[in-house]
Amino acid sequence: MTLENIKLDIDYVRSQFPAFKDPLSKDWSFFENAGGSYVPQNVINKLTEFMTSTKVQPYAEYPMSKIAGENMDRATSLFASMINAKKKEILIGGSTSINLYVLSNALKKYISPGDEIIVTNQDHEANISPWRRLKDDGANIIEWKFSLDNHELEISELENLITSKTKILAVTHCSNIVGSINNLQEICKLAHKNNIIVIGDGVSYAPHGFPDVKELDVDFYTFSLYKTYGPHLALLYGKEEILKDLPNQNHEFLKGEFPYTINPGGPNHEELVSLIGIYEYFNNLYNHHFNEKNVSIRNRIKKINNLISNHEENLANPILKYLKSRKDLILIGKDNVNNKDRAPTISFVSKSKTSKKISDILIENKIATRNDNFYAWRCLNALGIDTNDGVVRISLTHYNKISEINYLLKILNEKI
Ligand SMILES: Cc1ncc(COP(=O)(O)O)c(C=O)c1O
Repeated sequence: MTLENIKLDIDYVRSQFPAFKDPLSKDWSFFENAGGSYVPQNVINKLTEFMTSTKVQPYAEYPMSKIAGENMDRATSLFASMINAKKKEILIGGSTSINLYVLSNALKKYISPGDEIIVTNQDHEANISPWRRLKDDGANIIEWKFSLDNHELEISELENLITSKTKILAVTHCSNIVGSINNLQEICKLAHKNNIIVIGDGVSYAPHGFPDVKELDVDFYTFSLYKTYGPHLALLYGKEEILKDLPNQNHEFLKGEFPYTINPGGPNHEELVSLIGIYEYFNNLYNHHFNEKNVSIRNRIKKINNLISNHEENLANPILKYLKSRKDLILIGKDNVNNKDRAPTISFVSKSKTSKKISDILIENKIATRNDNFYAWRCLNALGIDTNDGVVRISLTHYNKISEINYLLKILNEKI
């Protein structure tokens, strides 16, 4: 069988997530995945195991502690392999917002008065505010605005903004409102030609396929693990050659012990260990769909990514087509997914109803979604959308199924 013929086994996928059997959630179509995803049983098992038998201070010599420490290291190593990084390049923090704030604080050392930092108006505020704040250290902030015609961040526009003073570029890999996948590899190529450090926000990208950070050649990359089927933590990747020179923000004696130098304090231990469950889930997905066993972790992820993309494309395209056909609704971003150029994160507004009204109707019909600005308020401001009422966002992931999409379209058609 060729890869093209293998389809994601959606029944198998859903059987791994207890939420689809839980009395409270089982009857709902869950379309709020860009907010936070369900977790597979493996994650719950790892969390329970840790809390039951190894909930002690890790890295001592008695078995409960030794195993706790080993599992913490294993979780980090596995995630490093999944995104093609080294273990030393991975930092697990409380959230992407926290990760980016501590990173911006550490990167201040590269900023002299008059230097320039480029931020976008398409990003979530988590990858804007920390960088804008460096204005207080003398940086000039330059805004890379997305096009109001197609809602895309155009690389040709970035070219016009880069000068010999540009030091940092903060850009999203995928906007949590527009949904387009920005060509981060191309962006990094252009930035590196000009000695610019690139900070990629992968929060809306990673749930749809863990990226290869070396292939992207991005300097820093972060995503929220609670949106990639795990607990409320976030991963920050940084290139070793940059990380090792950043100032120590942790205890004084930890100087030089990167990446522990970046965060003042360690991660939540039990949640860190539960990340092994995410790996196990993806590994089980691989084994369920493919026979070849002698395959690296990264290559397993790559193959699963393809299955997921194809499935998500089939979910998203009928919704995009429907929204485009409705003259009273305004879709944001591309109206078609083609070759993974758009995530199935779909935002729209109505010309006649508030987003709150639409969201309420969907919820009355057991469709879990919401209206909000999703902290991308510069993006909504640029689009002229009221940031209090926000957009209606239907955000899908690989465990959603076609019958749910058909049901959504029926409700949109009959009740909105
Ligand atoms: C694209 C994007 N970036 C950053 C964040 C912030 O993530 P966190 O909640 O982990 O701080 C979010 C959260 O929704 C997001 O959607």
